[in-house]
Amino acid sequence: MSRLFTNLSFESWLKTNCRWICRSSETQIRCNASVFGSQTQAWSYVKQQTLDETSAKPSIRLTPFQMLWAGRFKDGTHLLKSAQFLQKELPIRVARRVVDFQKLPHIALCNPVIHDMYELYLRAFSMLCKFPKVENLEAEERYCRTIRQLLDDHQSVVTHLAEGFHECQKNVPYEIIDAFLNRTLTSRLGIRMLAEHHLALSVDKPNYIGIICTHLNLKQIVERSGDFARQVCEHTYGVAPGLIVNGHTQAVFPYVPAPLEYILQELLKNAMRASVEFHLDRPNEVPNVVVTLCSNDTEFFVRISDRGGGISESQLQDIFKYSFTTMGDRSTIRPTDNDNIFSEMCAGHPSSSPSGGPMAGWGFGLPTSRAYATYLGGSLHLLSMEGLGTDVYLRLRHIDGKKESFRI
Ligand SMILES: Nc1ncnc2c1ncn2[C@@H]1O[C@H](COP(=O)(O)OP(=O)(O)OP(=O)(O)O)[C@@H](O)[C@H]1O
Ligand SMILES: [Mg+2]
Repeated sequence: MSRLFTNLSFESWLKTNCRWICRSSETQIRCNASVFGSQTQAWSYVKQQTLDETSAKPSIRLTPFQMLWAGRFKDGTHLLKSAQFLQKELPIRVARRVVDFQKLPHIALCNPVIHDMYELYLRAFSMLCKFPKVENLEAEERYCRTIRQLLDDHQSVVTHLAEGFHECQKNVPYEIIDAFLNRTLTSRLGIRMLAEHHLALSVDKPNYIGIICTHLNLKQIVERSGDFARQVCEHTYGVAPGLIVNGHTQAVFPYVPAPLEYILQELLKNAMRASVEFHLDRPNEVPNVVVTLCSNDTEFFVRISDRGGGISESQLQDIFKYSFTTMGDRSTIRPTDNDNIFSEMCAGHPSSSPSGGPMAGWGFGLPTSRAYATYLGGSLHLLSMEGLGTDVYLRLRHIDGKKESFRI
C-alpha cells in the first residue's frame, strides 16, 4: 500500500509519529508499516509548504446562477474553461481540508479510520497537483477520468468520519468535532457539486445544465425521497407510513436537486421511523407523514410533520449533535452497509442496495442536513410536541431569486 506524507519535514513527521506512538500502539503499527512501505513502494511526496501555500490561496465560490449561465459552445470551449477553473480551484479546497485534518488533536488523528480519511485527502491533493495543465479537449477527458476516480475514492468519507469520530468522541471536545465536521462536510459538498457539475456538462439531459435542474418539480422530488424513505422503513420494520404532500404542489423552479434530495431523505426517514416506533402496538394505524410545500419569489419551504410522539425535552438539546442517536445498537451498522447513504448524493440515485441503507444509527442525519441547509443559504428548524409529533422546517433560497442564494 502506498502511503503519503508531507515531506516538508520528514523529521517533524517522524516526531509527530513518535508522539502518536506514545498515545496509541495501534497507530505505531500503522506508522511503522508506512515507514517500511517507503522502502519497497513508490511514495508520493507532498511538501507541507506546497500544502500551506495552496491552502492560503483565495478560493473562488461560484453562484449556481453563474454556473447556469456559463454557456455552452459546440467546440467544447465551455468544457475547457470549466476544467481549467477546477484545476485551479480543487487543489485549494482539498489543501484546506488536509490542513484542517492536521489541526485536529493528535488523539483524533491517531484514530485509524480518521487517519485513513486524512491520507485519502492527501492523495487527492497529490493527484490533482500532478495533473498536467488542461489545454485541449483530450486532456479534459483525461482530467474527467481523474475527477471521476477521486469522487469514487471519496464516496464513503462521511460514513467513515462518522465511525471514526464515534470511536474517539470521548477523548475529543465536542466543539472541535462539531466545527471540524461542519467544515469538512460542507466543503465536501461544495467540491462534489463542482466536480459533478463539470462531469455532467458533457451529458445532454433534458432540463439539466450540469447538476442544475432548470425545472425542478418540488412535489416530485419530495415524493421520490418519500419512496426511498418508505423503502428503507419497510425493509426495517415491515411497515411504513403513507406520505401526503400539500401546499404549493405545482411549484417548479431551477435548483440543484442532489443536496435537497439528500436532506429530504434524511428528514423523511426520521419522521417515518418515529411514526412507526410510536405505533409499534398498532402497526396498521401508523399515521401519514404530511409534507407541506411553499414557494415564493425568493425562498421555498418544506415542512415535514409526523405523529411520531415528538422528542423529549432532555433529548432535544442533543439531536443536532453529531453521533447522537436513539437507535440503540450501532454494532449492526458498518460503513460498507450504507456507503450509498452519503456517497451518491450527487448521482441522483441514492440506493443501490435493496434496503437503501440503514433507517438510522449514525446520528448524522440531522446535523449533516442542517449543515447542508446552512451552506445552501437556508436553515433547518425542528419543533417537537412531546406526546404527539414533530414538525421540521426546511427553508432554502431560490437560485434565480433577486437576492444571492449561496455560493458553491
Ligand atoms: N421526527 C422525529 N421524531 C422523533 N425523533 C426524532 C425525529 N427526528 C430525529 N429524531 C431523533 O433525533 C435523533 C438524531 O437524528 P439523526 O437523523 O441525526 O440520527 P439517526 O436518525 O439516529 O441516525 P442517522 O445518522 O442514520 O440518520 C434520532 O435518533 C431520533 O432520536
Ligand atoms: Mg436520521
